[in-house]
Amino acid sequence: MQTGFDLPAPATEALAHSERVRTLVAERIANNGGFLSFADYMDAVLYAPGLGYYSAGAQKFGAAGDFVTAPELGPVFARCLARLASAALRQLGGGVILEVGGGSGALAADLLLALRDEPPERYLLLDVSGDLRERQRATLAARVPEQLHRVTWLDTLPPEPLTGVLLANEVLDALPVERFRMRDGRPAQLGVQVAGGRFAWAEQPPTGPLAAAVADLEEALGQPFPDGYTTEIGLRHPVWLRSLLAALGRGLALCIDYGGTRREIYHAGRPDGTLVCHYRHRQHTDPFFLPGLQDLTAWVDFSAAADAAAAP
Ligand SMILES: C[S@@+](CC[C@H](N)C(=O)[O-])C[C@H]1O[C@@H](n2cnc3c(N)ncnc32)[C@H](O)[C@@H]1O
Repeated sequence: MQTGFDLPAPATEALAHSERVRTLVAERIANNGGFLSFADYMDAVLYAPGLGYYSAGAQKFGAAGDFVTAPELGPVFARCLARLASAALRQLGGGVILEVGGGSGALAADLLLALRDEPPERYLLLDVSGDLRERQRATLAARVPEQLHRVTWLDTLPPEPLTGVLLANEVLDALPVERFRMRDGRPAQLGVQVAGGRFAWAEQPPTGPLAAAVADLEEALGQPFPDGYTTEIGLRHPVWLRSLLAALGRGLALCIDYGGTRREIYHAGRPDGTLVCHYRHRQHTDPFFLPGLQDLTAWVDFSAAADAAAAP
């Protein structure tokens, strides 16, 4: 385990779990010629089936977990969204709610309670985490048993476009991001290697899509990044958002997250990006600390999200 932080020590079982995640990532690095892109690392430590932070059984949300999201603080957030959702559903003449990345199920339960007099035709939940799907089921069974018949868990986005309301709270910030550092006017791709038995940062020339995306970003910002500037870019986000929006034929999509416009995120005063890790309500910047036991997240580039949503 890497040290250098005054962070609470994990239980023996949790440490053993993290070791299994570490082994999986080390195998992926070895199978990939000794270098794993940061997005692939993030994908593994957060979402590897049965092992990743979101896929395995640890408590994540709330006081006993690592961080708190708005739905976990009480029903106010859901009630605000319920007002928007009911107005949209009325205007549409009815429809469904599709919540993507439902976490513990708290938002679904509070929304169904807030909308009990004018419920959606169905409440659909789509989450990559099998563990969280089970938690959502348990939350809803305990808190809104009379509404459970409306709820369906999906494995993929529905093939037929939906009419209704699409919700994704704090999902975009949890999607894997690439990380790069400017070297002699060009981006170097940052990834992960094993050095001295530990994970460590490594650099390699950028892939074509990364080089093109950084060039586009510099053009949109109107200036090149200075040497040494290090940051993240969500290469997978536009495709993800577009597929989400394509699933909504008619209706309202609400993606709620923390982030900023392109100029705010890629500001000169932010020379090391926005990647942060959450572990037991502490925030730090070492993504290699206890892999599988901590959340990794990066701010959402709202300009890129808006461009993706507006693209024909
Ligand atoms: C930070 S948590 C937020 C959970 C919840 N929305 C909340 O506000 O408490 C991110 C959620 O998104 C889910 N998730 C991540 N990537 C996803 C994807 N590609 N499709 C669906 N769900 C995803 C995770 O499993 C998790 O439930």
